[in-house]
Amino acid sequence: MEKPAILGGKPVSKEKIPFAKVIIREEEKKAVEEILREGSLAGGEYIKKFEKAFAEFIGAKHAISISNGTDALFLSYLALGISFGAKVLTTPISFVATASTIIHAGAIPFFADVLNDANLDPKSVQEMFRKQKFDAITVVHMYGKPVEMDEIKEIARENNAFIIEDAAHAHGAEYKGTKVGLLGDIAAFSLYPTKIIAAGGWGGVIVTNSDEIAEKLILLRAHGELRHKIGPEGAYEYEILGYNMRMSHIEAAIAYYQLRRINEFISCRRKLAKMLSDLLRDIPGIAIPEEPPYVKHVYYIYSILIDEKTIGWTRDEFVKALNAEGIEARKGYHKPLHQQPLFKMINDPTINHFAKINKYPNYAEFKLPNAERIAKSTVWLPMHPYLTEEQIELIAKAIHKLVQWRRK
Ligand SMILES: Cc1ncc(COP(=O)(O)O)c(C=O)c1O
Repeated sequence: MEKPAILGGKPVSKEKIPFAKVIIREEEKKAVEEILREGSLAGGEYIKKFEKAFAEFIGAKHAISISNGTDALFLSYLALGISFGAKVLTTPISFVATASTIIHAGAIPFFADVLNDANLDPKSVQEMFRKQKFDAITVVHMYGKPVEMDEIKEIARENNAFIIEDAAHAHGAEYKGTKVGLLGDIAAFSLYPTKIIAAGGWGGVIVTNSDEIAEKLILLRAHGELRHKIGPEGAYEYEILGYNMRMSHIEAAIAYYQLRRINEFISCRRKLAKMLSDLLRDIPGIAIPEEPPYVKHVYYIYSILIDEKTIGWTRDEFVKALNAEGIEARKGYHKPLHQQPLFKMINDPTINHFAKINKYPNYAEFKLPNAERIAKSTVWLPMHPYLTEEQIELIAKAIHKLVQWRRK
């Protein structure tokens, strides 16, 4: 039996296996050089080229590039008219932007419970709607796996609520043959460097089939200036309250060339995830991600759930032990949003200026047992298209090694 590296043994991998990796190839570099030579930093042809290609990739009428995924969510609410007085139901297991943008829009976030895959549980959503009315549901296709949308759509239809897709993790994922981005009223994607595709630092994109919403977004993202609606004669004339939430030309050029390789990225992720699942499937106390036949999971993150008693390590110890083996594992969203200090203190105007006009629920009273349980047992393993098969084997070997050590 091999001694774990954290206890002084030899690590499974000499070199660190990184959690995520971005590879920028020649095409991206050439495009950036060309932009730098021309000096067309703010706007240029790649903005339109990227938007057209992204809309085509999703099969949507419009794709509107935005400064980042957070701003894409924020502007999605504004474009739908969700602001003061509105209540939005979402998931407590996510990056903070999923919920903070609801607050930025002036609305009030509420949380429903999740399933073991960290996606919203339609039953919990239904229960929440029985107690009160919500204006919108924000689903997050967590880790790249689509939410159970048939049930969510039915609840939204019955209650006349909008569906916002936080698709930050799920470019190219599919639910019953439909791409994520077309499963609700509007969808926001992130192009943060480690996402399925990157831009030049920050980046985001909103997808919609509505001409009216697209037109509003084009004004919202650029100061509400008429130039963006009617051309140069609209310069310095402002029609609505807008923001500066545009993507730069360099970001769009990188995103454009990354998008040309998205299918290759996704198939690498899927192949590697399948390989890893096959190597981990039979370990007692480790639950691997499931992929029902009607979804296409894009494995932005490969997340497992561990049973601490069965494997003999606490989650935090297990992550540290994997790190010592050379595997850059993480504990993920280990504190659900409703239990975060931000949400416990949300009615304090010194930490949230909207508290001067809004009264938020007492989030500490939310009982979301599954979210609270999985937050304590989640482990994220490295996953990106540039992992080698050998590295996948080493990740599995490290997990087997640690589990066997405590089982002795
Ligand atoms: C689920 C989710 N939503 C929204 C965002 C925000 O995206 P960005 O970092 O591009 O602002 C992220 C970012 O990681 C995310 O993971």
